[in-house]
Amino acid sequence: MTFRQDHLLGIEPLAQDEILSILDLADDYVALSRSREKHADALRGLTQINMFFENSTRTQSSFELAGKRLGADVMNMSMQASSIKKGETLIDTALTLNAMRPDLLVVRHPHSGAVDLLAQKVNCAVLNAGDGRHEHPTQALLDALTIRRAKGRLHRLNIAICGDIAHSRVARSNLILLGKMENRLRLIGPPTLMPAGMSEFGCEVYEDMEEGLKDVDVVMMLRLQKERMDGGFIPSEREYYHRYGLDAEKLAFAKPDAIVMHPGPMNRGVEIDGTIADDINRSVIQEQVEMGVAVRMAAMDLLARNLRAKREAAA
Ligand code: NCD
Repeated sequence: MTFRQDHLLGIEPLAQDEILSILDLADDYVALSRSREKHADALRGLTQINMFFENSTRTQSSFELAGKRLGADVMNMSMQASSIKKGETLIDTALTLNAMRPDLLVVRHPHSGAVDLLAQKVNCAVLNAGDGRHEHPTQALLDALTIRRAKGRLHRLNIAICGDIAHSRVARSNLILLGKMENRLRLIGPPTLMPAGMSEFGCEVYEDMEEGLKDVDVVMMLRLQKERMDGGFIPSEREYYHRYGLDAEKLAFAKPDAIVMHPGPMNRGVEIDGTIADDINRSVIQEQVEMGVAVRMAAMDLLARNLRAKREAAA
């Protein structure tokens, strides 16, 4: 196992061997999670605090389960109810929590960069559970694990990421990870939702779904991030569905064995047709959720090993 990080703030700083270490360990944790006992003690004696400043269903529950399956004491801070509402700054909240001696801090925040800032103020391992439009590293890792298990490899695949690229931390982290693994990446979406300069990143950019989906192995759909939009990015949801919503007709342009992914939560009938999302022969959306728990177990386990080593060296 090679993993040299103190925190998991993004995919950007990770080398290929570190990504593969997380995925390999996660494969073991999938097996553990499917077994009768479901438990190991890699995090026994450690305290994990989840701080979610933005709503979350899957990610928060997945981190909670991951910690519990590995024996950590897990606390969910309800940030809606906390002193943040009374005007306490992020840094003060972090210092207060730090005084409770957590070992793992899982943070989601609406501002890009907020989790990095927090990591500089605490002496435990920090995991980014999504910061603004910046990164969502465990999502990209769980997507990578899902792809590797479905396709048998994680390189030289044609992968299309479709929809609201501009507002998506999921797209950013996936682009970085899948690029590091030497895949051919295509971005498909309306120009208003496509950040400038994407072709310089080595991706092909398409405005047309049928053209962009031609012969791809993986179709990754994104949620239309309405809460991050402040103007008219699309003519209407109906028009968006017509042009960019994934239905059987558009999917027919991809390879016959192409898989369909979505990080959730889905807007059915906006970016994806419900029957495609539920088609167990094409959609791996439920597998993504399962892989999420395993990847988070692996990431926290590897960070905890480094944390313990660092503390032993300092003692
Ligand atoms: C994503 C997120 O929060 O960035 N959801 C998730 O973590 N499962 C994607 C989204 O909200 O669209």
